[in-house]
Amino acid sequence: MGFNSNAVDELTKKLEDALILGKFQESKSVGGGCTHPHSDTGNAADNSVAVVPASGGDHESAQEEFSDVESFSSSSGEDSDDDITMYRGPPPPLTVYRPFLPEGTKSLFPSEVLSLDAIADMIKSGTARNIIVMAGAGISTDAGIPDFRSPETGLYDNLQSYKLPYPEAIFSIDYFRKQPKPFYVLAKELYPGQFVPTKSHFFVKLLEKKGLLRRHYTQNIDCLERVAGIDPGLIVEAHGSFHTAHCIGRKCLKEYSQAWVKEKIFQDEIPRCSVCNSLVKPDITFFGEGLPPRFFELLENDFGSCDLLVVMGTSLLVQPFASLINDVADSVPRLLINRVRVGEASAPGTGFDFDGKHVGHTHRDALVLGDCDAACVLLAERLGWTDELAELRNAFLEETNSLGQDQ
Ligand code: OAD
Ligand code: ZN
Repeated sequence: MGFNSNAVDELTKKLEDALILGKFQESKSVGGGCTHPHSDTGNAADNSVAVVPASGGDHESAQEEFSDVESFSSSSGEDSDDDITMYRGPPPPLTVYRPFLPEGTKSLFPSEVLSLDAIADMIKSGTARNIIVMAGAGISTDAGIPDFRSPETGLYDNLQSYKLPYPEAIFSIDYFRKQPKPFYVLAKELYPGQFVPTKSHFFVKLLEKKGLLRRHYTQNIDCLERVAGIDPGLIVEAHGSFHTAHCIGRKCLKEYSQAWVKEKIFQDEIPRCSVCNSLVKPDITFFGEGLPPRFFELLENDFGSCDLLVVMGTSLLVQPFASLINDVADSVPRLLINRVRVGEASAPGTGFDFDGKHVGHTHRDALVLGDCDAACVLLAERLGWTDELAELRNAFLEETNSLGQDQ
């Protein structure tokens, strides 16, 4: 698929060792809570993973009118195709919008400033200090890991050789029980330890360092948050992780270590349970499985106390994760950073409302279109954190003896 980077071989080895040896702190709660109680029903349980947009549709209404736009790149990226299902080509230039709101709309953001600046002001003034980040595959594409749904480059457009009945089958529990091989082949290719965290990961780490990160909810299974050094207690791996593994035998569920499973995967063997001979699967959440208990344990308190929501690099098409954007209070500002517009409301209270179409209360949604890394760098600049962000990343690269310091 052409996304394995040979340039980071040396680093790879070190990261891998560090991950396996537990140099990076392990999350006890994640380790203890990945038994997927609903996984043996064979049917999608209430809270099992499913592909449904956050807003019940209306994502195609991409090109909206904004009264003011500020672009931060002279890149001539073609932006004619940017509806969510059709976006192709180079990343769009980073664009921060100042929406033109319907008359009489009460906005959280002063009309004379860009919404990103307003958000930076909230952070600087201490108004936002319980920040939740919700992340998806888009925060890791700059590390060389493909996302899932981007046309041509996304994983689901590149699985032809696996001969799947449909692309998502590779992460479907029912298909896996019958045909486990494709998943293990892919797992070997994407196995954590081969990639370096992006600036977006370090931006989240910086939020933690400043004591502003309430929680980082990620759908990613690449472990790059942990690799970037974010406290595992502040991470919710909503779709699980490779950190632990279990036998999927319905009456067995024996736990296996990451190291044991990894060895099997890298020897091209299918890991099987020593007790019941069922398949042993890393605790990443498949379609048809329930999310880790930790997700449900934390979300009510977290989203109830959140005072700024930052959503980065996700299509918001997979439930129940996508709906979390509606779980913060009506007055809480929400910032989306993504290459394309996603998660927009088809009715009041069902998603983002960047244009104030459904404002029933205060308009509070901000949008930065473009790359997560570029947006994080810009936000860091607005916050006066540029040097700290660079230092965090460089310290990491030095520690892992990387050659290329700052691509
Ligand atoms: P998707 O591939 O569905 O969406 C990634 C989004 O990020 C898209 O809207 C891209 O345009 C955008 N994007 C890509 N690179 C970007 C970048 N550098 N900067 C900004 N935006 C970028 O990935 P997820 O939303 O994470 O679940 O997918 C959700 C779940 O679907 C995954 O966790 C996985 C998958 O099937 C399971 O396997 C259970
Ligand atoms: Zn077993």
